Amino acid sequence: MTSGKPLVVVTRKLPDQVETRMMELFDARLNTDDHPFSQTELVDAMGQAHVLVPTVTDTIDAHVIGAAGENLKLIANFGTGINHVDLAAAEAGGVTVTNTPGVLTEDTADLTMALILAAPRRIGEGERLLRSGEWKGWAPTLMLGHRIAGKRLGIIGMGRIGQAVARRARGFGLAIHYHNRNRVPDATEAELEATYWDDLDQMLAHVDIVSVNCPLTDETRHLLNAERLALLQPHAVVVNTARGEIIDENALADALESGAIGGAGLDVFAGAPDVNSRLLAAKNAVLTPHMGSATHAGRTAMGEKVIINIKSFTDGNPAPDRVIEGVTT
Ligand code: 8YV
Repeated sequence: MTSGKPLVVVTRKLPDQVETRMMELFDARLNTDDHPFSQTELVDAMGQAHVLVPTVTDTIDAHVIGAAGENLKLIANFGTGINHVDLAAAEAGGVTVTNTPGVLTEDTADLTMALILAAPRRIGEGERLLRSGEWKGWAPTLMLGHRIAGKRLGIIGMGRIGQAVARRARGFGLAIHYHNRNRVPDATEAELEATYWDDLDQMLAHVDIVSVNCPLTDETRHLLNAERLALLQPHAVVVNTARGEIIDENALADALESGAIGGAGLDVFAGAPDVNSRLLAAKNAVLTPHMGSATHAGRTAMGEKVIINIKSFTDGNPAPDRVIEGVTT
């Protein structure tokens, strides 16, 4: 590390108190108008900075990482999901990558639970009906949805967020089923009364609601493809607050349009901010704009984690939330 404060380039507008603290601690270059960085801007930033602070809206590919100047040794991501960073290129380039796990778990689980409730209970449709001015008043058969209590929830990815979703879901009377690379500890399984399915296909055929809570990796891209969606029951609902690319969106749109499944609750989209027009048109889909971690407390805590990672690293200590360990300063 050179003398003086490290030059930290932050690619998006962060909460004020996070930016103020960054200005105090670092030579921070803030993005005051919050425009998403172009690839050229990212390349320029990598060439100048000691630390880059990107978000999910940045594509940190091998070209961007290859543009790292001699000072750039840390990419401190604002967010937990790290699929937008080419980790192999970072490792090869000796660049450490950190993320912000833990602090957005409860907020993301809350939003997931909201979608688990909203899709079967047709809350999006109901709201649109009321706002349209077409509502004729209460009727015995108006807006009938599906009861939540007593149903089975199949969680794909039983990490922090998956477990937090399971805890909430139990309060609503849902039975917990899950598929994960590894079985969770016996104590966790017992606490959640969770049923483990080694075989995802089998689980899908037996649950009423599916919640996607795994990271996007080469293994999980299009995990829910046409064949797997076809295994679901006709009333089944698919909820995704992880990453859009985990579901084949065209296959999901087919299933929603044909009535092969009952509905969907989606917070994430493969081409965000562009959303598949067939998903936009699907009345049985509740759609939110990637707001799982969007609370004041959550985003501030994420920023604080970024600061701790940068400060630890630039002080010559291991950054607490290392995803890739590059060379030390
Ligand atoms: C973040 C997320 O807000 O942390 C994640 O992985 O998906 C979001 O909740 C976003 O990634 C910010 O970079």
